[in-house]
Amino acid sequence: MIVIANDHAGLELKRELTGLFEELRLPYKNIGTDSPESTDYPRWGYRAAKLVASGECDRGILICGTGVGMSLTANKVKGIRCVVCSDCFTAKLSREHNDANMLALGARVVAPGLAAMIARVWLETPFSGGERHSGRVGMITAVEQGRADF
Ligand code: RB5
Repeated sequence: MIVIANDHAGLELKRELTGLFEELRLPYKNIGTDSPESTDYPRWGYRAAKLVASGECDRGILICGTGVGMSLTANKVKGIRCVVCSDCFTAKLSREHNDANMLALGARVVAPGLAAMIARVWLETPFSGGERHSGRVGMITAVEQGRADF
């Protein structure tokens, strides 16, 4: 299950991406705003991040104007590795190397077609599971849990 959340700036792109989920037959939960009225992005980013951190959702996509506010918020939640992407290469490597479990997109940065391509690559790319990358992701978790000794 994918969770998708957005603020007012991400409303149009959210509609585009839910169309992609339907095309890919991916079950999703839309918890973002469906109104164009100005709203606070941390509210939406936090709610979505909690769903991923708790395991209720497998991964999540966040959309605001730049992707930055949403990703900063999500990365404060333990267990979240959220990446802001505006290119497909970063999206792919953030899955293969970093096992990113949330993707943040900037609706005012990337055009809808590119955003859909980034989301698709990110959704379809698995974590490599390699020893080197697993070790490094484990180091990120150690920092998060205050037990880093490196
Ligand atoms: C809203 O104007 C904008 O600040 C928000 O969508 C986002 O870009 C924040 O990082």
